[in-house]
Amino acid sequence: MSLEKEIERRKTFGIISHPDAGKTTLTEKLLLFGGAIQKAGAVKSNKIDTHARSDWMEIEKQRGISVATSVMGFEYKGTKINLLDTPGHKDFAEDTYRTLTAVDSVIMVIDCVKGVEIQTEKLMEVCRMRKTPVICFINKLDREGQDPYELLDEIENKLGIKVMPLSWPIGMGKSFRGVYSLYEKNLLLFQGSKQQLSDEVVSVEDVNDPELNDLIGESYADQLREDVELLEGVYPEFDREAYLAGDIAPVFFGSAVNNFGVRELLDCFIDVAPGPQPRETEEREILPNEKKFSGFIFKIHANMDPKHRNRIAFVRICSGIFERGKNYNHVRLEKKFRFSNVTAFMAQSKEIIDEAFPGDIVGLYDTGNLKIGDTLNEGEKGIYKGIPSFSPEMFREVINMDAMKSKQLEKGLRQLMDEGVAQLFTYEMGARKAVGTVGVLQFEVIQYRLLHEYGAKVKFVPMNLYKACWFSSDNQKKLNEFIDSKQRHIAKDKDGKLVFMAETKSWLQMVQDNFPEIEFHFTSEF
Ligand code: G4P
Repeated sequence: MSLEKEIERRKTFGIISHPDAGKTTLTEKLLLFGGAIQKAGAVKSNKIDTHARSDWMEIEKQRGISVATSVMGFEYKGTKINLLDTPGHKDFAEDTYRTLTAVDSVIMVIDCVKGVEIQTEKLMEVCRMRKTPVICFINKLDREGQDPYELLDEIENKLGIKVMPLSWPIGMGKSFRGVYSLYEKNLLLFQGSKQQLSDEVVSVEDVNDPELNDLIGESYADQLREDVELLEGVYPEFDREAYLAGDIAPVFFGSAVNNFGVRELLDCFIDVAPGPQPRETEEREILPNEKKFSGFIFKIHANMDPKHRNRIAFVRICSGIFERGKNYNHVRLEKKFRFSNVTAFMAQSKEIIDEAFPGDIVGLYDTGNLKIGDTLNEGEKGIYKGIPSFSPEMFREVINMDAMKSKQLEKGLRQLMDEGVAQLFTYEMGARKAVGTVGVLQFEVIQYRLLHEYGAKVKFVPMNLYKACWFSSDNQKKLNEFIDSKQRHIAKDKDGKLVFMAETKSWLQMVQDNFPEIEFHFTSEF
């Protein structure tokens, strides 16, 4: 098959949700419909068990299990689908943000009982920032949830995206009858079976057809007619371009655990979702169909065995054909590397592959040369953009407890930061080291791994910090003035970029007022 054909048939996406909305269930059902797994229960949840929430060893074990299932490739109706899983636990939110850099679109699961929840809002912010096309799946219609119109309003208001319902529920909870597809103009009748994979689909040419009364009862039929009239009045035709531009989110209703509405979602997804998109490097835009291979690393997973410090680097292929055993250029290090152990991630297994195409994710075994955000290609300069660091929310100072192990500590910290476990900021004055994370768990992870994998003993001391802000200005003189006057609060991030370590929100505000020529940023790319 030609490169063009391979690109055309690929869709790479991520599923995101607030924990418990049904992400794991939906993932599993998509794989079932895709024929990638044969029975339910095969997908390991990468959700952190309640009992393990404070036990990171257990969490790491679970994360270990979830490596194989964090990328799931499968074929459906001639389309090669790459589904990227994202951790639900909020302490691993950075992982999720980075995974979103490797997808071309997103399916967002929302619980119809709980509506839009906080984690969903945060994830949507990232999608909006990147203009990632989003499809919403409103789940658990077999439960008494919120009114569907209210849910749509909530999505528009809280997530800041226009919606376009492509299906509509008939009843809810105990009286849930099914959904009417506004996209395909047919009726899907709800059976409420966890086993059955096919639901009765009735084609409805016209909702005014009296036959509808026999199918779902008169009062539901009348309600549906009213709803459809209203919806067709309010929502114009589905505009795919607006969806692809990230301006409109098509919405589906269903019940993942009952296999209901999932096939319709998948069918529409392969119809409308974008294939591999062009991507920007620092130098230029690269198209997927360019002959030369290029890709970037968005995730690194450490091997769980401390004796072998192998890691798997996840590469998103952006252009050309990736071939096993060929020499590729590591742009940051300006060095050639050859990867002979290349893994593709299929739904339930990892397999060695010889080539991969744009949109695909491959795993490379690495001993410490690769880090998140690295670009591999066939020779040109220019690192892929769009894998920013976000300002952490918690900061602690690392104190070395064993002066003899400074080297090991340096190395350990560097490698853990390359993996994206946390962010390290080194103060310009006094070389104090601040570790920033999204959640408290990471501090335990780092402390344990430094000791067990690198033999370096550290302790963490809380720091009174609000945000790490990257900053810039067109006025070099003012920039220098700012740096001079705030020397004690300036640190370097992992790439050597200067960062202003703001202690409190109000103080940051004051500094912003005092230095109007300086722009402050909460992500490392601006
Ligand atoms: P997550 O990955 O987003 O965290 O959610 P997950 O799929 O694990 O689903 C969370 C809970 O919601 C699970 O119940 C799951 O069975 C249930 N669920 C998923 N889809 C539906 C649905 O359409 N209707 C209803 N009523 N429930 C649904 P659990 O009790 O936590 O686990 P389990 O023992 O049932 O697996």
